[in-house]
Amino acid sequence: MSPKTLTAVAPQIKTALPGPNAKRLIAADDRLISPSYTRSYPLVAKRGRGIVIEDVDGNEFLDFSAGIAVVSTGHCHPEVVSAIQKQAAELIHMSGTDFYYENMLALAERLTKIAPMPGPHRFYYGNSGTEAIECAFKLARYHTKRQNVIAFYGAFHGRTMGALSLTASKPQQRRRFMPLVPGVTHVPYPNLYRRPKGSDGRQYAIDCARFIEEKVFTSTVPPEEVAAIFVEPVQGEGGYIVAPEEFLRELRRICDRHGILLVDDEVQAGVGRTGKWWAIEHAGVQPDMVCVAKGIASGMPLGLVITRADIMDWVPGSHASTFGGNPVAIAAALATLDVIEREGLKNSAEVGRYVLDRLSSWPKKHAPVGEVRGRGLMIALEIVKDQETKTPDPETRDRIIQMAFERGILFLGAGPNSIRISPPLVVTREEADVALEVLEQAIAATKRP
Ligand SMILES: Cc1ncc(COP(=O)(O)O)c(C=O)c1O
Repeated sequence: MSPKTLTAVAPQIKTALPGPNAKRLIAADDRLISPSYTRSYPLVAKRGRGIVIEDVDGNEFLDFSAGIAVVSTGHCHPEVVSAIQKQAAELIHMSGTDFYYENMLALAERLTKIAPMPGPHRFYYGNSGTEAIECAFKLARYHTKRQNVIAFYGAFHGRTMGALSLTASKPQQRRRFMPLVPGVTHVPYPNLYRRPKGSDGRQYAIDCARFIEEKVFTSTVPPEEVAAIFVEPVQGEGGYIVAPEEFLRELRRICDRHGILLVDDEVQAGVGRTGKWWAIEHAGVQPDMVCVAKGIASGMPLGLVITRADIMDWVPGSHASTFGGNPVAIAAALATLDVIEREGLKNSAEVGRYVLDRLSSWPKKHAPVGEVRGRGLMIALEIVKDQETKTPDPETRDRIIQMAFERGILFLGAGPNSIRISPPLVVTREEADVALEVLEQAIAATKRP
């Protein structure tokens, strides 16, 4: 990639897509790699810098997926690359479960200053979002000595057996894997766009939370046997659905009343994506545990749990992971936090607001756009067959994403029929303008007769 393209605002599509090299690699992938992956379109990435991804045929795309909301500082941010290189030359691994090293503590001390609940805190290090959830699930049972947990319809918490038991996003994610971990009850998540016609949004949000107390606790699960409620403050994979603040506050009240832990899954929404360090902060709610992954290390595998220190009362041998808290991943996280603190937080709030403003007129202008929603740079457009009936239109959503790809912009779907806009937190307004222009053209091109 030439230095000029490092600041490129316009995508550069030079071949038919997929190009010849991409075709060859995709054929090999078809033979060799697990068919369980869900590739939306044939992008074969070669290198990335900032918002730009260059494919194996020299085509350049603007990445408005950030590798599924992971490369928060952009691709290969120079400060992150330099921190990785320096750490890799010094110490790549010395399992933190059996030995000690310094940067594990440096990251814990850094996170303790920005955690969404007051300290003292303790930290568990793993390698992914699902591992952070497994840790929180096991710790919630261990600490409370209670077996049951509550999670929400539409939630995505990961794919290992414990996390999958909490996940209730798409049936394919669970098909033929049951029985899962027992003791999980799913309850409705307040999707304001799809609330009962004529109902008041605020009341509906509160009612969703109260369903737990008024229905679940009075009919199937005694509250004193519930260890935790797991919640995403913005459902990610479920469709970028923002939980109303009243809902999160009501969950906090219910947890306090019954001695239940509130576990905040910030794997996708955390680390600045919504314009604050943590999405739950928008509601002024303090969780008991926070699960973090994706954006924390700009693409290096790292997942972690922040808890109130008194909760982490398990003993040696209860839980650990060989690679968890790898020194190189932690070095990347420390550099990532520097960049986000310096520019990402403010930019995510500002450019996010700008994008949302620009999109706000789209439901009026474009019939397939049922709703525009989001916070910071976690934004979605819901694509429907009919704005009145709100019937989901996954086929049109997929066509729009495909057309945007062909015009050089990378988006991903979320939920059954939404398009997610989740660029790196350092994206500029000019880059956003280019992406939205393409997105709008793609939507307009799907016009029904
Ligand atoms: C909110 C949330 N929790 C957990 C996970 C699982 O993370 P991972 O894929 O790193 O295991 C994801 C992944 O998309 C997520 O969005």
